[in-house]
Amino acid sequence: MNRQISLFKVFMSEDVLKPLNDVLMSGFITQGPQVELFEQKCIEYFGNNHVLTLNSATSGLTLGLRLLMNEDKEEEWPGFDVENDVVLSPALTCFATNAAILANGCNIKWIDTDNTTANVSIEDIRSKLSENTKVLYVVHWGGYPVDLNALKELQEEHYSKYGYRFRIIEDCAHAFGATFEGKKLGNHGNICVFSLQAIKHLTTGDGGLIILPTEKLYNRGKLIRWFGIDRDKRNYNRKDFRMENDISEWGYKFHMNDINATIGIYNLPHIDTLLQKNRFNNQYLFDNLKGIEGLTLFENKDNRETSAWLFTMKVNRKNDFIEKMKESGIATSQVHNRNDLNTCVAEFRSDLPNISELEKELICIPVGWWLSEDDLKYMVDKIKCGW
Ligand SMILES: Cc1ncc(COP(=O)(O)O)c(C=O)c1O
Repeated sequence: MNRQISLFKVFMSEDVLKPLNDVLMSGFITQGPQVELFEQKCIEYFGNNHVLTLNSATSGLTLGLRLLMNEDKEEEWPGFDVENDVVLSPALTCFATNAAILANGCNIKWIDTDNTTANVSIEDIRSKLSENTKVLYVVHWGGYPVDLNALKELQEEHYSKYGYRFRIIEDCAHAFGATFEGKKLGNHGNICVFSLQAIKHLTTGDGGLIILPTEKLYNRGKLIRWFGIDRDKRNYNRKDFRMENDISEWGYKFHMNDINATIGIYNLPHIDTLLQKNRFNNQYLFDNLKGIEGLTLFENKDNRETSAWLFTMKVNRKNDFIEKMKESGIATSQVHNRNDLNTCVAEFRSDLPNISELEKELICIPVGWWLSEDDLKYMVDKIKCGW
């Protein structure tokens, strides 16, 4: 059979079958002890006590903004005015990032791309900051971290002009295990959201994580992920065990359940091996695709460690490249469309020259743990043959 190299693959640990069966037949399948255990394991993995499990990253991206919008006004935080404030957000991402902003009823101002990374352009953010900028979303495209130091500097510039720092929500859906200056993403003082959806490094089937930078946000997040009800206080002195206490801030049904958590518990021990393999493949492609005519590699700085979910590059005559790779059984894709041209966000449209250029050449090729060294060599040979 001809070789077929896929862009994505689901990793599932075989030892999950028995415990998953036990949970399925236990009579208790919603949020319970497996969620507690998985959450504890994630806390240990990230070295951060403020991790909450969720049913998806989309939920986390929605929850993160909601937490900031309803934050109390403080000396250095003026509160959030839905009518007049804006949320800066990347145009190049999964629509989930921006659906989360729309779900909160907020105005979007698009951020153009940095065409050496496909991440947000720091210069474009700087030029769009105003006294109405309350929140910035960023996506670590393909798992390659955004320059978090540059974002900190922008926050300080904003503070010196307007007296408060805009808040940052990092969409880490592609970036499980990626690091910036030696620390795992999730630990740089921002709200961070990870996806545990089917084809991500760590899958629970569907699922997500949110990491909150303060105890206060963590405590509110924990309540709001499940209607606003404190699960820890349930069952105490209640006449009717189903009747809940007063809800002061209403919430969503965003929690994880024990079925998904069980998958997470058994897949998590494999994450370091998977990441190591993705990174090995990423480096192999960097080393071996250098200097090929018509192909431009992206930035790869040594103060950050990619999770290598995508291997993204720029190619001349993109459609010819896609066709040629298809003939050789190598899957390719741009993976996400620019979001700003969708009808449902027409009111926010603006000129984004970088992304218009980038989309002509942007392409991702397979890089994940399922590639053998022979697959890598085959891919490089096929690309070297030209398109
Ligand atoms: C950048 C980005 N953000 C958010 C999401 C949404 O993740 P989920 O499917 O867990 O809601 C995805 C999904 O692929 C994504 O790629």
